[in-house]
Amino acid sequence: MVGQAGQAGQVGQVGIIGGGLMGSGITEVCARAGLDTVVVEVDDTASAAAERRVRDSLGRAAKRGKLTEEQVAETLGRVTFTTDLGALADRDLVVEAASEDEEVKLELFRTVGALLEKADALLTSNTSSIPIVKLGAVSGRPDRVMGVHFFNPAPVMQLVELIPSLTTSTETLQRMQGFVADQLGKQPIEATDRAGFVVNSLLVPYLLSAIRMYEAGYASAADIDKGMVLGCGHPMGPLALSDLIGLDTVRAIGISMYQEFKEPLYSPPPLLDRMVDAGLLGKKSGQGFYRHD
Ligand code: CAA
Ligand code: NAD
Repeated sequence: MVGQAGQAGQVGQVGIIGGGLMGSGITEVCARAGLDTVVVEVDDTASAAAERRVRDSLGRAAKRGKLTEEQVAETLGRVTFTTDLGALADRDLVVEAASEDEEVKLELFRTVGALLEKADALLTSNTSSIPIVKLGAVSGRPDRVMGVHFFNPAPVMQLVELIPSLTTSTETLQRMQGFVADQLGKQPIEATDRAGFVVNSLLVPYLLSAIRMYEAGYASAADIDKGMVLGCGHPMGPLALSDLIGLDTVRAIGISMYQEFKEPLYSPPPLLDRMVDAGLLGKKSGQGFYRHD
């Protein structure tokens, strides 16, 4: 456990909105850091799926000898899964990790901004590409809203991008720096509130270029990925990584970045559109550029 709440400004009670790939990973990170964590999903089925993801991941950590069964039980004991946004009212910090859809996030920031009870409660988004300033503007507390961008898989990746918007206060940024570094034990970097921040500005055009290359028939998916793994030492190739991120999410990030910069390299290629339309979303749906059983 890295660091529990106690000192002034520290976070004790966390709320996570969305328990998908990222929300479940962030939940695990927070609960393993000793924090009381509430996860809100859209319905009972999604809530049960979120709980299963967290349980399975903790179970794998136990199998690898990283946690004892007792620690798994303690960690799970800190997490409450619910479909009631009202359960977020008493939180010190909310991390929104719902689908990468601007309308969904705006509605959540409107609703949750109004129900937080503590004057200094922070409302943050794990968005990959949606402007933070827009989320702050509808929240009724723009100085206490910022981007907190974890990487997938959240329990493994050390980086968290911190994105203050034009309206975020210095105190909010400082509290989140402390939260990420001291309470979660992760490595923050700071980025400006522009679509893609630092990492996706570099990563997403690369992923989309690989999809275009595959679409044009230059090489097989396996050979494109092998090229980047064995030729450049990446842990996985761009098509396997797109499957891991989720093709719907890769597409949504490309659209946001294209809207902001009108840079053709950010525009999703037709094959990506067709795959998302067909429900081929990568690892989370069982099929993307590869099969995932
Ligand atoms: N949850 C928790 N832990 C996981 C995990 C998961 N989903 N997947 C892997 N791990 C852990 C394993 O338990 C293992 O831990 P130990 O070594 O301590 O036992 C470790 O990670 C390595 O796992 P594996 O041996 O099973 O697999 P691997 O060596 O092939 O690594 C990987 C898997 C960590 C995913 C690695 O392939 C990797 O780093 N890939 C690149 C991931 C990446 O680029 N992420 C960024 C995506 S972009 C993004 O997130 C931003 C955005 O907005 C889209
Ligand atoms: P996902 O599709 O796996 O999960 C999204 C979850 O949000 C779903 O379980 C869905 O039921 C839930 N949801 C949707 N609307 C909701 C609402 N109104 N209230 C509560 N829950 C709601 O997506 P993900 O990959 O976890 O992405 C979530 C966020 O994290 C997105 O903003 C995405 O851009 C960002 N992100 C994704 C990655 C990645 O690699 N996938 C990495 C970093 C950041």
